[in-house]
Amino acid sequence: MKVWDAIDFLNTLVDDSDPDLDLDQTQHLLQTSEAIRNDGHEDWFILTGFLHDLGKVLCLFGEPQWAVVGDTFPVGCKFSDSIVYPEFFNDNLDIHNEKYNSKLGIYKENCGLENVKMSWGHDEYLFQILKPHLPLPALYMIRYHSFYSQHRENAYDFLLNDQDHEMFEWVKKFNQYDLYSKAPEPPNTKELKPYYQDLISKYLPEYINF
Ligand SMILES: [Fe+2]
Ligand SMILES: [Fe+2]
Repeated sequence: MKVWDAIDFLNTLVDDSDPDLDLDQTQHLLQTSEAIRNDGHEDWFILTGFLHDLGKVLCLFGEPQWAVVGDTFPVGCKFSDSIVYPEFFNDNLDIHNEKYNSKLGIYKENCGLENVKMSWGHDEYLFQILKPHLPLPALYMIRYHSFYSQHRENAYDFLLNDQDHEMFEWVKKFNQYDLYSKAPEPPNTKELKPYYQDLISKYLPEYINF
């Protein structure tokens, strides 16, 4: 698909986990990216804001929403109480498995997130798609933007390496725009489209494999 066709396709989705149900998907993406743009950030950061939830097209391909949206978290070690609705892990067999239910589980201290398996979601999916095309801070923002227990609560510091710590400053910076960029006027998609088309063609190929 061309990126803009994917954006239009995504716009047919209603995300049940989204607190901003009054905004459609394209408006949420544009509010995020326009807020980043207004603060004078670099263009790859603006593009990242615009694309960050594009992985939610998985829902439209038939994946259930619980497997696509919501918090992401490491698997293979103890689930943190900082993950939203931790009581639901009581039904997860991993909490009874000695290999997986200790603090470190299958990991070594500070092994780096590159070596950590995360729960699946729209973040990891889009990261895999955009990996060859965007700079490292952008890839961290996309891959870990739903990893709230870390970027908000620092609950998994013991898994992060130095590069992760450095890059999570970007993830935190990004989160402000994802959650709190409410413009009084909804963004005008038609007016903004040429600017974003240019940005897309600067960084991405014409067609993307989803
Ligand atoms: Fe998201
Ligand atoms: Fe978002």
